[in-house]
Amino acid sequence: MMNKKVAVLSGDGIGSEVMKQALRVLKKIEKNFGHHFECIEKNVGGAAIDASGEPLPKDTLEVCEQSDAILFGSVGGPKWDHLPHEKRPEVGALLPLRKHFDLFANLRPAGVTKPLRHFSPLKNEIIGDGFEYIVVRELTGDIYFGKKSGDDETFGADEMKYTRPEIERIARVAFQTARNRRKKVTSVDKANVLSTSRFWRKVVQEVHTQEFSDIALEHLYIDNATMQVLTKPHEFDVILTGNLFGDILSDESAQISGSIGMQGSASINTDGFGLYEPMGGSAPDIAGKDKANPIAQIICVAMMLETSFGLMEEGVSIRKAITSTLNDMYRTGDIFSEGMKKVGTQEMGDAIWSRL
Ligand code: IPM
Ligand code: MN
Repeated sequence: MMNKKVAVLSGDGIGSEVMKQALRVLKKIEKNFGHHFECIEKNVGGAAIDASGEPLPKDTLEVCEQSDAILFGSVGGPKWDHLPHEKRPEVGALLPLRKHFDLFANLRPAGVTKPLRHFSPLKNEIIGDGFEYIVVRELTGDIYFGKKSGDDETFGADEMKYTRPEIERIARVAFQTARNRRKKVTSVDKANVLSTSRFWRKVVQEVHTQEFSDIALEHLYIDNATMQVLTKPHEFDVILTGNLFGDILSDESAQISGSIGMQGSASINTDGFGLYEPMGGSAPDIAGKDKANPIAQIICVAMMLETSFGLMEEGVSIRKAITSTLNDMYRTGDIFSEGMKKVGTQEMGDAIWSRL
């Protein structure tokens, strides 16, 4: 029996609809396995701007601090696009949350199994029997958090920088992850041009030699890596990369895995505290229409149980319920094809819930 506090930040767009289904799943797990999860809902992003003028209000941050994990929806939308850069939902809420809790390790799984390969834009002969890898993206450093400057007239600049401890700790997460998988790490950088990347490569190499020589390590340049994932996705096991390259590679990886409505992501710190969010955005065009795919948000619940709470069996039971729902041909619009059962957000949630 486990007693945990969860901060629930649904945010904008489809956030609240898909979160509703995810919370029903969490309640069912609570009942099935005899746990107690206290869920506290708070505003974030555009919703928080509307309510209080701030994308990440103080009371939201406080509830996150008192919690054991954060279940995040999605933030942003055209309504808030006119705001100054730092006030916008994505930049004003997500980046400070990552920094505040030192969520340096971003885990973004990618892959398709053979029965679901029609979801992927890749050709069948490339997918073969399927592929599966995970992007380990550094999330609290790099050009995202370096010194910013500019004068609005003649130049704009962002400093790209990585320190040794920053590289060492994310490298360890990647190697450790690989040790529990197929024992291969591909580190992605731009060492042919960038000094940051040459240092990155050197430190990754050192961590490998000193602590993880049982793991295979290769290095790829980012431009080459974006091609390789499209032509040889099954060659990858763990992709280790910095914040900016990881942003790009993880979107590409999510796309070739099928709908981004099916992928969750974990951002964790050294204590195992984590923020769990779907890879897709707030999709304002379909918000409130019962069209969004709730699977990504439900996967986030599974990831939270497994990664932050160590509840493996519980996580697996959610994954099984999702697979069984897909096997029974339930499809939201984003993954629909001829001959399948078209459902909305609520009905997809029901189907998964009833299989738990
Ligand atoms: C992501 C997003 C964010 C990022 C944006 C919204 C700041 O694209 O989580 O990948 O670039 O990290
Ligand atoms: Mn991104």
